[in-house]
Amino acid sequence: MRKSRRLQWVSVSGLLLSLLSLGSTARAADKYGDEAEGTRNYDDFERSRACASCHKDFYQQYQQAMMSQAYTHHWDEIEYFELAVPHADRNPKLAGIKAACNGCHSPMAFLAGDTPPPRVDKKSRANESVTCDVCHTIKGKGPDGTPFNFSYISSPGKTKYGPRAGLESPHHNTKKLDFIRTPEFCGTCHNEKSPYGIWVKSTQIEYAEGPYPKMGLRCHDCHMPKATGRISSMSKEDLPMHQHIFFGAHVMSKIRGAIEMRMHPDRQDVEPGETVKIKLYLFNAKAGHKIPTGSVEDRQLWVHLEATDSKGQVYHLPVDKKGFPDEETTIASNELAWFDLGEAMGKKDFKGLPRDGIPEGDRIFRMAYYNPKNQITIMQWYTARLGTDYRIGPLETKVETYTFKVPSRAPIGKMTVKANLYYRLLVKPVGEFLKVPEEELADRLMNEVSTTFEVIDD
Ligand code: HEC
Ligand code: HEC
Ligand code: HEC
Ligand code: HEC
Ligand code: HEC
Repeated sequence: MRKSRRLQWVSVSGLLLSLLSLGSTARAADKYGDEAEGTRNYDDFERSRACASCHKDFYQQYQQAMMSQAYTHHWDEIEYFELAVPHADRNPKLAGIKAACNGCHSPMAFLAGDTPPPRVDKKSRANESVTCDVCHTIKGKGPDGTPFNFSYISSPGKTKYGPRAGLESPHHNTKKLDFIRTPEFCGTCHNEKSPYGIWVKSTQIEYAEGPYPKMGLRCHDCHMPKATGRISSMSKEDLPMHQHIFFGAHVMSKIRGAIEMRMHPDRQDVEPGETVKIKLYLFNAKAGHKIPTGSVEDRQLWVHLEATDSKGQVYHLPVDKKGFPDEETTIASNELAWFDLGEAMGKKDFKGLPRDGIPEGDRIFRMAYYNPKNQITIMQWYTARLGTDYRIGPLETKVETYTFKVPSRAPIGKMTVKANLYYRLLVKPVGEFLKVPEEELADRLMNEVSTTFEVIDD
């Protein structure tokens, strides 16, 4: 009741907003992470729409970004309501995740203690996801080193923190804050630890361990590219500033070519029945972290090789094994897996799903997540152990070899070998089972390369 009355007052005057938040400010102090749950009200935060009239470009850019849909996007809704919430209700060890998911996906809902928030079709304020006001009223992070699990300190109110000093706005106060320009700011949500103490998201950690900090390149430089524009419609001049594009794995123009490839055979002339070795190089040229990063349990990055002879016959080339521990999770297989989905959903007769939905023998650049029963899992919150990390690090090059015995009946002439590198946002058999829309499961061609050799007469 108290809440709905507040809502009316707030819409009357922006000034009242700051007065009303005083009560919750006292409760919130400088709490962060789990401690901040329920210390605020939705009304403490302005809607992104309220910023749109003056910050037009940023608003439109942001509308296209995943962070404006972090609660409403179909796969987020499905995973939260069909897997995480029922799993938390069944397993006391996981009880906390019901609130925790929203610490990053719908910070206002988490801070308001609205757990679980209404479903998306109810159009509650939880739908607003990671808003302008959420980011621009973060004033710091918890004191312990590495940021993770929503360890931002939220202080909603009149003051909006930004990168510059001395700006004036009729709608709000502005204050320069160095923290917003740091990768650690992003890390408060882009690093995550499971209830078992395992790093299940580590984008900022991977970045910090990689080559880019030394070059002075931040998350912002790649995901909020600098371009000239007006800070607001009231600004007097164009300035270079970081655009609010936040493109990531959902945007083809971001992932296309992020990994560069080249390959060659070990010699040019090969007789039918002989063996030729193809060497393929995959170079992470564009990402400031590993690829894949973030939702590593969901993503599939794999390379598919085919040779085509001079008569058009096609041969699939499986990758050569290297023999490292856990390698089987990096070579496509369609054996049954993902057994714990049944456990989360309360389906006792669940038999599992094919693991990859990728041609068997293809190399997958992956780090598998294992649940406490040592089964591979898609549920990062149920992760008790990580497998071998076989992803491609920033500026790292992976080398794969393919030993190809040219068939004794292969025709004389050119043999063309083609490598296609694909990216999927979600393991396809899992997505199909959970009825996640097709667009999330598509094979996205990230890059391609080919080479040739001659099949000659003996
Ligand atoms: C009535 C217009 C108006 C509205 C509405 C508005 N702003 Fe602003 N904002 C401005 C102006 C003007 C500036 C200063 C621009 C300049 O000096 O060029 C500014 C600057 C900023 C800055 C930069 C601060 C800094 O120190 O670098 C941030 C961040 C910001 N606004 C966030 C927001 C957010 C978040 C909202 C919505 C909750 C919002 N603004 C709503 C007009 C507005
Ligand atoms: C995920 C967090 C996040 C969200 C969401 C977000 N911003 Fe920002 N914003 C930033 C960061 C980070 C910067 C500073 C980038 C830099 O300069 O390094 C920034 C900078 C700004 C600036 C100052 C630009 C300048 O160069 O002076 C304004 C104004 C602004 N944001 C408004 C908005 C508005 C309006 C929205 C919603 C439509 C929004 N922001 C959403 C993180 C965010
Ligand atoms: C308050 C938490 C929060 C903060 C702070 C935050 N993010 Fe995010 N970010 C998220 C969430 C949650 C998602 C997932 C959206 C979804 O559900 O697909 C996301 C998604 C993204 C994506 C899209 C990834 C994709 O799969 O397409 C990019 C890019 C991104 N964030 C960059 C940044 C950068 C850069 C910063 C710092 C300037 C930042 N984020 C700060 C919570 C946050
Ligand atoms: C040198 C440029 C660069 C830097 C620095 C960088 N990124 Fe990225 N990022 C990329 C590229 C390119 C992609 C697309 C390839 C991919 O999906 O990994 C990407 C992808 C992402 C994704 C989507 C991953 C997925 O599979 O869903 C997120 C989230 C993200 N970055 C966040 C961050 C954060 C947070 C930081 C800082 C800690 C950061 N990035 C630093 C270039 C960069
Ligand atoms: C510490 C912050 C954090 C927590 C806690 C968190 N997430 Fe996320 N989540 C993110 C970020 C950041 C991304 C984007 C990473 C990327 O693009 O690879 C993401 C991505 C996702 C995605 C994939 C979105 C897509 O568009 O492909 C789903 C689904 C998801 N989270 C669900 C959940 C659920 C369910 C929970 C709770 C069990 C949860 N998350 C807890 C930060 C968090």
